[in-house]
Amino acid sequence: MAASMSNFELRPETIAAHALKAVDEATGAVVPPLYLATTYARDENYEPKLKENYQRNGAPTLWQAEAAIAALENGKEALLFASGMAAIAALCETIPRGARVVAPDVMYYGTRDWFVRLRDLGRISLTLFNSRDPDAMAAALRGQKADLVWIETPLNPTWDVIDIAAAAELAHEAGGILCVDATATAAVTTQPLSLGAGLVFHSATKYLNGHSDVLAGVLATGEITDRWKSIATLRTKMGSPLPPFECWLLMRGMRTLFVRYRQSSSNALAIARHFSAHPNVQQVLYPGLSSHPGHATARRQMSDGYGGMMSLLIKGGLENAKRFCTRLKVIVPATRSEVSKASPNTGKPWRVPRVRSLTIWCACRSASRT
Ligand SMILES: Cc1ncc(COP(=O)(O)O)c(C=O)c1O
Repeated sequence: MAASMSNFELRPETIAAHALKAVDEATGAVVPPLYLATTYARDENYEPKLKENYQRNGAPTLWQAEAAIAALENGKEALLFASGMAAIAALCETIPRGARVVAPDVMYYGTRDWFVRLRDLGRISLTLFNSRDPDAMAAALRGQKADLVWIETPLNPTWDVIDIAAAAELAHEAGGILCVDATATAAVTTQPLSLGAGLVFHSATKYLNGHSDVLAGVLATGEITDRWKSIATLRTKMGSPLPPFECWLLMRGMRTLFVRYRQSSSNALAIARHFSAHPNVQQVLYPGLSSHPGHATARRQMSDGYGGMMSLLIKGGLENAKRFCTRLKVIVPATRSEVSKASPNTGKPWRVPRVRSLTIWCACRSASRT
């Protein structure tokens, strides 16, 4: 089995690059071994050799990847799931019946759909606050109970930035916990647990893996609470831990997390500046631009780059926007071609052809319609 971190302090870059300094104790292998076994033999006293002996409960390659992520997030533990949505679904299972969830009105559509589904089933009450109004989150929480405050920052697809420390304080006052979807930031630049969040979530499919070949989700915690233990149990019962090969690929991807993130941030800033001055682009939404409404908060809580995600509002209607996407030479049009969301400026539905590569998504809206 892989060795754990020795007791001297490692820089986060080193933790990521060495998957927590994993040298296999049994063989001396310098990369974490891939344990594919679904079950593990017991010893001569019928005791399991490992803390678990069935893969759905946990296994060595999973534990190694989780330990590396927990260290990067400055957390106590991390739990890896077979997708980001599987992690979100497990967390939602821990919300007591009828309890309130507070979240921004703009966020990753899958998370929003899941909350709305639970509300429509009568399982939770849901308050969605206006992410563009600086006072709306406080108004939704002050003097009222909430079990879970869920924020995403920067927010997909407006890339608005929410103040994590302020959200954590409000969540605590409301008697709940804050969970931050930090998919678009990475621990390279923001560590939500250090800013007061109870949980941090990533769709590890994105920056953590970084190679578009692993679907994964992760939750990390700063404290081992009853809720945390329930999430771990639910993962086993639902059968959704990340399988070993994906864990191994994820660790391989994480080795370059810091260099990828930094390069991606610097590329994105150059692209954002370029398009800000472009006659066919109405607006660039990128938190690294001083013109972005979330820039001041981003400067405070994103210490090492603003990431590679941005939205471009292309002039001339949806067809023009699609033409822009399909003419790109390096950036690949992928994932969904159209999603209807609320426009950040008007609240009306927004047609969103998406372009996906390591560095950019483009949200393009019809200038004539909105
Ligand atoms: C911000 C955000 N949160 C959650 C998810 C869901 O993660 P997954 O696709 O890994 O299930 C995504 C996926 O795109 C995302 O972008």
